[in-house]
Amino acid sequence: MTEAELYTVYKGVYVPTHLHPAESLKFYEEFSFRPDDIIIVTYPKSGTTWMQELVPLIMSGVPWLEVHRAYILNLEERPSPRMFATHFHYNMMPTSFFKVKPKVLYVMRNPKDVFTSSFHYYGMASYLVKPGSQTEFLHKFLEGKVVFGSWFDHVKGWINAEDKDRIMFISYEEMIMDLKDSVTRMATFLEKPLEDAVIEKIADRCVFKNMKKNKMSNYSLVPSEFMDQKKSEFLRKGVFCFNDVHTVDCKFY
Ligand code: A3P
Repeated sequence: MTEAELYTVYKGVYVPTHLHPAESLKFYEEFSFRPDDIIIVTYPKSGTTWMQELVPLIMSGVPWLEVHRAYILNLEERPSPRMFATHFHYNMMPTSFFKVKPKVLYVMRNPKDVFTSSFHYYGMASYLVKPGSQTEFLHKFLEGKVVFGSWFDHVKGWINAEDKDRIMFISYEEMIMDLKDSVTRMATFLEKPLEDAVIEKIADRCVFKNMKKNKMSNYSLVPSEFMDQKKSEFLRKGVFCFNDVHTVDCKFY
């Protein structure tokens, strides 16, 4: 199927129509944040699922903010602190976000790995336009003609956000290199200092191999007509191929 059939253009970027019907987007725009809300923000394939596993363990349930049916989850009535996740760009956040200034955890991942992960994901998720060849998909990715637009605009928008005190920037690569330290820093930012033994448990539960085994986090409960994990698993490789110290080793994997 084509972009026109599967996507809606929302504030200049494609969003999957299936997950973002008009009523969800309206609910999102009118949503009232609370100052003690916590929002996980990512460009797709940057470690969202990982954070959705980690943050509740540090605090407690992270529903999507803009995705279908968020508006019937009684988000308004939930006790504080509430947790949400979003793929939206900084300039797509609703008015209340800028007034109330809830805390944000922004996860960044090397775009080469985001590209590779996305390529496989677009091949297995029926609500996304098939990626075509790697070269074709690379052009779309670089031009932002993929869901949630350009990785570059996404990162640039959030990095240049005002009120940076309430945003913690963390990279997928830092989390891979030292998950315990990452959890400690996140807990401090969230004003939830944790004992070492607890941090160790959280980190152990959230390492790739354990999340991949866990049916609550490996997406195996999602029907195969929506995500065909025979084509590519959701928790696929969980690695990074590039860092500043070593030579670029980014062969397509
Ligand atoms: P790969 O396809 O490179 O394996 P998102 O949740 O934002 O869609 O991101 C999915 C990517 O995060 C996938 O990357 C997935 O394997 C990786 N991921 C999920 N949980 C992880 C974990 N515990 N450790 C490392 N990578 C993880």
